[in-house]
Amino acid sequence: MARILSGIQPTGTTHLGNYLGALRHWVDQQDEFDSFFSIVDLHAITVHQDPKDLREAVTHLAAMLFAVGIDPQRATVFLQSHVPGHAQLAWIMECTASFGELSRMTQFKEKSTKTEFISAGLFNYPALMAADILLYQAERVPVGDDQKQHLELARTLATRFNTRFGEVFTVPEPQIPKVGARIMDLQVPTQKMSKSSSQDSGIIYLLDPPELIKKKISRAVTDSANDLRYVPDDPLRAGLRNLLELGSSLLGASPEEVASRHSSYGALKVALSEIVIEAVTPIQQLYREYTDDRGELLRILGEGAERANAVARATIERAHAALGFLT
Ligand code: TYM
Repeated sequence: MARILSGIQPTGTTHLGNYLGALRHWVDQQDEFDSFFSIVDLHAITVHQDPKDLREAVTHLAAMLFAVGIDPQRATVFLQSHVPGHAQLAWIMECTASFGELSRMTQFKEKSTKTEFISAGLFNYPALMAADILLYQAERVPVGDDQKQHLELARTLATRFNTRFGEVFTVPEPQIPKVGARIMDLQVPTQKMSKSSSQDSGIIYLLDPPELIKKKISRAVTDSANDLRYVPDDPLRAGLRNLLELGSSLLGASPEEVASRHSSYGALKVALSEIVIEAVTPIQQLYREYTDDRGELLRILGEGAERANAVARATIERAHAALGFLT
């Protein structure tokens, strides 16, 4: 069975962008692939984290992954900090990447303007992300569009290491969905929906109550044309485009088809609220069940870490031997 790996940061609460860009595809693939899904808490501390908030965010995310449908019997779900191989291989990847390559990462450039204290970890973040993937010899990595550049770097680093030291790493393929790969902020539709940069009114959280979802969608920014067509390349129509892509992603119909089903922006928004509410309601119910039993969550994560560690140790041994470390 081919292997996939993906990760999500425990920062804030999970939103519709995470779900449509990534989590839903993780769920769809867990039968087809040997799946490893990680809550990347080491990545979270590249910017300041309050320990209490971090604990809460990790618990939230673990419950959310199971609530969206990831089955711990079929997929290995684990915390990154429970597998020492991530930090070990990250160092090796930092020594494989160049300063220039890491300096060109657009996410670093964006994030470093938003924080006063720019940690060395924030700069090295993509090397750790490459390590996350290569540690499991993952063939595919299901992610949203914003991770494309990091994935390219992971491929470059795997190839460079293999060329210098012999074949150790599988070179991973990014897997980015055709629709829903970049869900935009409802208030600033030229910017992606993101826990670090959006206002709450621009984000639909998976735990938002139905009334709030309706309110956020009804207030979503569109344009004054009131011409219900899918125009992907016009930045002035980015709000409408985002709503149509949201509908398309949830319904499995093309954005053009979603546009043709409605006669006004208002009608589109009402229909969209309904399908979003329909999608999140069962997730919210299951989420409550999982958060009620924290002991069970920890037990499942412990099992995941054991399985992940077994694979990670084997890769670290191979990488160390290839580098000339005495083993
Ligand atoms: P993170 O935690 O920001 O997001 C998790 C996943 O959700 C996707 N995503 C989106 N997709 C569509 N529209 C959006 N508005 C949107 N916002 C987020 C992301 O693309 C991602 O797939 N660096 C990664 C985490 C990571 C990782 C890895 C991923 C660490 N190690 C190894 C894959 C493999 C991140 O910060 O994702």
